[in-house]
Amino acid sequence: MERLEVTSHVVVTDDDSAIRKVLQIFLQKSGYIVTLCKNGEELLQLLEVSNTTVDLIFLDIKMPGLSGLELLEIIQQKYPLIPVIMLTAFNDLDTGMKAMRLGAKDYLAKPVSREILLTSARRILAESASSRSELAKQVKAIAHQKELENQLQIALGTIDKVTRATLLAFSETIEQKDAYTKGHCNRVSIISVAIAKAFRLPPESILVIEEGALLHDIGKIGISEQILNKSSTLTKEEYEIIKMHPVYGERIISHIELFQPYRSIIRSHHERIDGKGYPDGLKGEEIPLSVAMVSLADAFDSMTSDRAYRSAMSVEIVLEEIKLFSGTQFHPDVVDVFIDKELYLL
Ligand SMILES: [Fe+2]
Repeated sequence: MERLEVTSHVVVTDDDSAIRKVLQIFLQKSGYIVTLCKNGEELLQLLEVSNTTVDLIFLDIKMPGLSGLELLEIIQQKYPLIPVIMLTAFNDLDTGMKAMRLGAKDYLAKPVSREILLTSARRILAESASSRSELAKQVKAIAHQKELENQLQIALGTIDKVTRATLLAFSETIEQKDAYTKGHCNRVSIISVAIAKAFRLPPESILVIEEGALLHDIGKIGISEQILNKSSTLTKEEYEIIKMHPVYGERIISHIELFQPYRSIIRSHHERIDGKGYPDGLKGEEIPLSVAMVSLADAFDSMTSDRAYRSAMSVEIVLEEIKLFSGTQFHPDVVDVFIDKELYLL
């Protein structure tokens, strides 16, 4: 408390020089730093340049120019942390009460006794110090929370980067193993995203499609290269082995929590609308739309690329093929969008 008195800066604003002088002596003797202002204009000029150094204002209500109540309103708005004690004439206590309602911390009737002045100043400064320290705590807490949020964002960003890098590494692994699928996963991803955008899917769904498409053939890691790169027709047994890649893929990603959103794309991208696909023979609506988008993109890119067992087909012929199998192999809505929006030109 002593320290508070010694270091506090008090501004006395009163048009009566005798009152200013008396208050200055009382306050300075108690160790306060005192500045005197003879009217509202002087006070506002002082606050303009050094409001952060002012701890308390004594304010006369009746002054020429700006009145005490007008000044109180300005101080409340511009410098809400500085407490104000009003000085009222002895016969005008109603105005003092009004000032309290407007936000003054106290009011003192003139002539003010030394004891009343100092008791009020001490009390209001102590209250102000405690509310300032409360405010400082809140500001610190908010800053701490912001810092935590920043750290969280950085951590999430790092996880995103690691996920993406792992995903690209997996996708690269498939392409390294199957020479004929060079660039295939990336193209399937680009086409699938274009279809998803044409369907106006939300960004988070589009991201799952983009990344799921990159990984759709991950299960081929589990198939021997002799079978994957065989240039002659596959035997029935070999084809049955190839058909296991969606199941292998699902098994591979089952160990990675972050890849779980891609599960249905990986397991079901060879399903057909008519139920004749593999591995589960899903039909119609049982196949999620996102999976149907990747299926069409996969089929289109496979047919228009060279394969170990055949050369690339022309886009015109592939489009005829896709139209022919709309509603049996492919989801008809996905086919319509793919053709109407000319997404095969990507
Ligand atoms: Fe596949």
